[in-house]
Amino acid sequence: DWRTGNVIEEQVARIREQVGTDRAICGLSGGVDSAVAAALVHEAIGDQLICVFVDHGLLRQDERRQVEEDYVASTGVRLVTVDARERFMQALAGVTDPEEKRKIIGREFIRAFEQAERDLAAEAAADGEPIRWLVQGTLYPDVVESGGGSGTANIKSHHNVGGLPDDLQFKLVEPLRALFKDEVRAIGRELGLPEVIVSRQPFPGPGLGIRIIGEVTEERLDTLRRADAIARAELTAAGLDGEIWQCPVVLLADVRSVGVQGDGRTYGHPIVLRPVSSEDAMTADWTRLPYDVLARISNRITNEVPEVNRVVLDVTSKPPGTIEWE
Ligand code: XMP
Repeated sequence: DWRTGNVIEEQVARIREQVGTDRAICGLSGGVDSAVAAALVHEAIGDQLICVFVDHGLLRQDERRQVEEDYVASTGVRLVTVDARERFMQALAGVTDPEEKRKIIGREFIRAFEQAERDLAAEAAADGEPIRWLVQGTLYPDVVESGGGSGTANIKSHHNVGGLPDDLQFKLVEPLRALFKDEVRAIGRELGLPEVIVSRQPFPGPGLGIRIIGEVTEERLDTLRRADAIARAELTAAGLDGEIWQCPVVLLADVRSVGVQGDGRTYGHPIVLRPVSSEDAMTADWTRLPYDVLARISNRITNEVPEVNRVVLDVTSKPPGTIEWE
């Protein structure tokens, strides 16, 4: 495609000029945006780029393995993994407000990068140069929805825009800032990334932290992770991945309802399925999933995840509902 080809050429030239001979780090989330941003920057500056994967403990089942295997195997990019699980759990303890969660997660992300940067600088003591550049896969809709566009209200602080701390020590490289998701995917394909990465559905940087309505705890994360894995497996098995934009699975951790499971009464939590169809995430409609698929997901979750005794379907378009619940 000549247009994506042009974008790549322009961005590569721009990144080279911007970054020069400095080193850059890029946080990989497992998602399309950061994967394409990193691949683009890798194209421009090669081994000056080091990718950092922060395991914040808010990931879905298997996600860490996928980043370490799929992405690294296909790009040859250098990857450092930071295990920040404990730190995030401590920072999020007792927090229930969505914006506060987002800001904490954004801040801890940057702290984790800074830690990685210090470790890398110490390791490369021979040249002693600090890492000055931070690559982010910020897209146009992220900019607009965080109030960075012209005249729009701040709807949510996306962790990579509104959630940045004031004392940020990095300068930002954001090569996807003018683009929509479909354009980013086209660029990923053009750069030779495997389809399993390029066609991956969006997943928010703050991860499962904003899909637990209420305080984030290890136990709740574990419950949500098992329910989410079932929903995703069934949607994939039904061949529906191409039809839905994404399907957040949300745990209403502070809501309980009475059920009857196995031998008796339970007092468990509801899980919300939020399947949406969208072009660019700016607007969305709820996806009319086949009833038999919904039935399978519901049966499996309530059978296999004892903490959950009710599965509900979100039938709200965006607007008024945003895609994520927080
Ligand atoms: P909302 O909930 O605002 O979501 O309708 C729009 C799209 O953005 C994703 N999302 C995020 N992505 N960091 C991200 O990288 C974030 O903080 C974030 N919050 C929401 C969401 O999954 C949907 O695709």
